[in-house]
Amino acid sequence: MREEESPFRPGRVVDPDFFVGRAHEMEVLRTQFRIALKGAPTLVFIEGERGIGKTSLGLYGRHLLEAQEDAASAYVMLSHAESTNDAVRLIAERLVDGNVQAPWHKKVLGVLGGAFQEASIAGVRLKIRPRGDELGVFKEQFVYEIKKICDELEGERSGVLVIMDELNGLSESREFATWVKAVLDEPVAQRMALPLCIAMIGLPEARGSLIESHPSLARSMKTITIKPWTLTDTTRFYVDAFESAGAKVDPDALATLVSLTGGVPAYAHEIGNAVWCVADDLHITTRVAEGGLFQAAELIGRKIFKPRVLDAIRSKKYRAILRKLSKRNLNIRFTRRELIGDLDASEKNVLDNFLRKLRKLGAIERDEEGGVGTYKFCSYMHRFYFWLEASRAHSP
Ligand SMILES: Nc1ncnc2c1ncn2[C@@H]1O[C@H](COP(=O)(O)OP(=O)(O)OP(=O)(O)O)[C@@H](O)[C@H]1O
Ligand SMILES: [Mg+2]
Repeated sequence: MREEESPFRPGRVVDPDFFVGRAHEMEVLRTQFRIALKGAPTLVFIEGERGIGKTSLGLYGRHLLEAQEDAASAYVMLSHAESTNDAVRLIAERLVDGNVQAPWHKKVLGVLGGAFQEASIAGVRLKIRPRGDELGVFKEQFVYEIKKICDELEGERSGVLVIMDELNGLSESREFATWVKAVLDEPVAQRMALPLCIAMIGLPEARGSLIESHPSLARSMKTITIKPWTLTDTTRFYVDAFESAGAKVDPDALATLVSLTGGVPAYAHEIGNAVWCVADDLHITTRVAEGGLFQAAELIGRKIFKPRVLDAIRSKKYRAILRKLSKRNLNIRFTRRELIGDLDASEKNVLDNFLRKLRKLGAIERDEEGGVGTYKFCSYMHRFYFWLEASRAHSP
């Protein structure tokens, strides 16, 4: 069927209407926001692997906290931020231009007007730019500026939510971590009630390096770890999405899709979309589901696993071991002992280094349930793709 009619959105942030699961994580975020409303700033770190749904939770959280808790919010992407100044400037900009539709927008602009000037681009979008070196002052006075905004919005908005996504690089900056710590502590030290909740989003490594940059942040921080969807959530996702487009999925086909998705929302969108494109009509049978799964494994593999894993393995011996491993049965688990039986002497010598490397690259992990020497691929999609790649490499 035609891709433009697909209900799946691979590579795009989810629309709140299609948001599935994460009720517990959402409640933790809401609680931290409510604690901040009592007057002391709170810090939340939303962590999880790539594609697990961190940004989606952040945006959905923003949507709900604005609608149900009367938050005023700023959502900033820090992927290109190189310094605290960059982060602070983005927060101020987003507080203004991310809320242009809000009736209280002018009040925020009124407060920030001292440090920033407003410019309209093509007469449509409002942007603000720091005046001269006022940005440094704004950074130092951040909590007082946010306090002024809260006071201005009294009766209209309950408090401020700042979401900082893609924290990854900045988490290594000691200056940034120290600034965050000061933002949390200063209002308390000054006995100033500041209803501010900061939600940071990043990979688990980013949380680690932020804490390394300022160890006492660990005590101030509430961590939300986003795990794979449950089988129930994954099932609901496929059923709702297909139903919204008028398609019906056979129970066996649904079970296959759910079990191979491994709870990763990014894969679910790719798989759903591939199944949609493979299907000739609105009836999704097992044959169609399997066809889609193979297409999706190719796609996800080319986009994600090839650059992150295959291209990172330069050694010919490692590549040979991976192919031998992948050509075994399609089981997601394997043991070191069964793998070693397939290898020649020189490959055996580097096997442990190979296993370490693949773990580091996030392709396999130790399988605690299976006991010592048991490993598993990190997802069925990894497993499928390496199998496809190995089959291709050995065919003429
Ligand atoms: N709860 C959800 N319901 C429906 N779709 C979701 C959900 N969470 C994530 N997705 C979808 O999964 C994909 C990946 O999600 P998202 O971009 O939020 O992940 P991420 O963890 O921020 O990834 P990255 O580490 O690459 O930034 C997107 O296409 C998104 O629409
Ligand atoms: Mg993201």
